[in-house]
Amino acid sequence: MKKILVTGGTGYIGSHTLVDLLEQGYNVISADNYSRSDARMLQGIETITGKKVKNYATDLCSLTDTRKIFEENPDLSGIIHFAAYKAVGESVEQPLLYFENNIQSLLNLLHCVQEYKVPYFVFSSSCTVYGEPESIPVTEETPLRPAASPYGLTKQIGEQLLQDFVKATDCSALLLRYFNPAGAHPSAQIGELPIGKPQNLVPAITQSALGVIDALTVHGTDYPTRDGSCVRDYIHVCDLARAHTQALQLLEKENKTHACEAINLGSGTGVTVLEAIRAFEKASGRTLEWTAGPRRPGDVMAIYANNEKATSRLGWRAAYDVEAIMATAWAWEQRYRNGETVLSR
Ligand code: UD1
Repeated sequence: MKKILVTGGTGYIGSHTLVDLLEQGYNVISADNYSRSDARMLQGIETITGKKVKNYATDLCSLTDTRKIFEENPDLSGIIHFAAYKAVGESVEQPLLYFENNIQSLLNLLHCVQEYKVPYFVFSSSCTVYGEPESIPVTEETPLRPAASPYGLTKQIGEQLLQDFVKATDCSALLLRYFNPAGAHPSAQIGELPIGKPQNLVPAITQSALGVIDALTVHGTDYPTRDGSCVRDYIHVCDLARAHTQALQLLEKENKTHACEAINLGSGTGVTVLEAIRAFEKASGRTLEWTAGPRRPGDVMAIYANNEKATSRLGWRAAYDVEAIMATAWAWEQRYRNGETVLSR
């Protein structure tokens, strides 16, 4: 059975991907020091799959500690690297924290990939690498623009590091550019657990609907879009997780060396913030209170994916639309707050 290391395995996308990999028959280990996640996510994964995942609570910024994972698991056939900081605003305030954490951990992993000859590497990238695009939808050929935040820069640098790294080794890599991951596992046993006040739209919607935070503020209603609010491409976290399994399968099937390819992962549909609110209202049967606020610095006006490459290369298709995304996010938020999940505090 192929053994895969998932870094950031107790994070939001990592945990859903572990579930998918286990369900597809992979043997997995996780590396997550819980700096931005919750160890009980492992119990949530076990509740869904019936399988225990071994996690190394390793700081991947230490090469010595990272190497220990590989010493214990010299038979790794692939790595999916999620572990990274991802708060855009925080990265603007503390750029060095982002450069050190996101880049150093990647470099340490690549040292070990080279040393232990791990053949396949999947990198968590982001549509943020496109900046404010000249035209939408964006394809993988759309030119990258200067990053709008240090977080975005770490994704651009990560992509470039991998492009050069594969040229010098036998490893092949896929760079998966996520649009806006949202929603939760349909079991409502695992989902998004933002630290502090949620910055992302969907947890802000579900938390404000339950009164955990104040009424939602829509950041900007004066954009030249169809209703004045920003356009994004929301992709269900389980659809995203499935794409990672398919990415590994593609790397295994083609078994190339020196290959590094970027693939967009988005639903292909642009949804405004106000449309997302309406989708939530439909899915939950509730009316959501919201207020119009100023534009959020650093926000791009409109972006969504051309996802034809994900379909042609990975055989991937989105199974969930925005209403289904909202329904699963809402189910998770309620069960979590009601103390009905192993993660509930
Ligand atoms: C951004 C990045 C994405 C990154 C993510 C990490 C871009 C295009 N996207 O997503 O790559 O992975 O951060 O966090 O750079 N909104 C509100 N009220 C709120 C929260 C959000 O109106 O309380 C609006 C935002 O202004 C935006 C939309 O909802 O228009 C989505 O925001 P968010 O969920 O934060 O994601 P992005 O900023 O698109």
